[in-house]
Amino acid sequence: MALEGHKKIETNATLLLTLSFLVVTIGGIVEIAPLFYLENTIEEVDGMRPYSPLELTGREIYVREGCYVCHSQMIRPMRDEVERYGHYSLAAESMYDHPFQWGSKRTGPDLARVGGRYSDAWHVDHLIDPQSVVPESVMPPYGFLADRVISPEYVVDLMKTHRLVGVPYTDEQIEMAQFDFVEQATTFGDAGVVERYPGAQQRDFDGNPAVTEMDALVAYLQMLGTLVDFSTFTPDASR
Ligand code: HEC
Repeated sequence: MALEGHKKIETNATLLLTLSFLVVTIGGIVEIAPLFYLENTIEEVDGMRPYSPLELTGREIYVREGCYVCHSQMIRPMRDEVERYGHYSLAAESMYDHPFQWGSKRTGPDLARVGGRYSDAWHVDHLIDPQSVVPESVMPPYGFLADRVISPEYVVDLMKTHRLVGVPYTDEQIEMAQFDFVEQATTFGDAGVVERYPGAQQRDFDGNPAVTEMDALVAYLQMLGTLVDFSTFTPDASR
């Protein structure tokens, strides 16, 4: 009986198409509709916060220079990766990244947790002349970053743009952005920076009292992967 009915459908193209369309539509709705009612698909993780003005500027330089062409920022949950780079990346760790820097190519190592792995001086030497610290390196030099003094003039617009796409910068953070930008790259910086951006590292990153692109990029590299404390992190099994 059932086969007879099926034969009718299979031999009538219009009926087959109409019914196929119905089945796919129902399946699609069942799969997609619930996503619109979920508050959030990213597990909340302690320690994550938006980038400080200096870090955000460093990140812009990272994108501008195309570092992502050779470096990924996404540690996959496979044993060889976790042993080399550390805990696998969490979705929350790139929730404030616009655009995300997961990358698709590793000519150089993954940088998702490079923060704190080397000294500032190592990073500066490495960026000025990679082969001076890693003789076999094929990474190009970026010495000009050390000579480019930057002003905090544009950081407010940058942060407002990020707020527009969902980064929860507060009015206070935007108001203090130019101040924080300079203070973070100063040895005796104002404590407000760390209050507004918990875990922010505050010092003269490149050894030159002026705030340079090198300061911003090294500040960014040194914070990568340092915000979440994995000694206390436990994945939320209820999701
Ligand atoms: C042409 C490819 C290429 C580009 C572009 C590139 N790198 Fe690299 N990078 C490498 C390679 C290869 C290594 C490994 C050898 C070494 O340490 O120099 C590396 C290493 C590194 C390391 C050390 C990582 C570790 O865990 O040892 C950092 C940090 C780094 N690069 C940052 C950057 C930044 C920042 C930029 C952009 C300004 C950049 N790289 C652009 C190829 C590249």
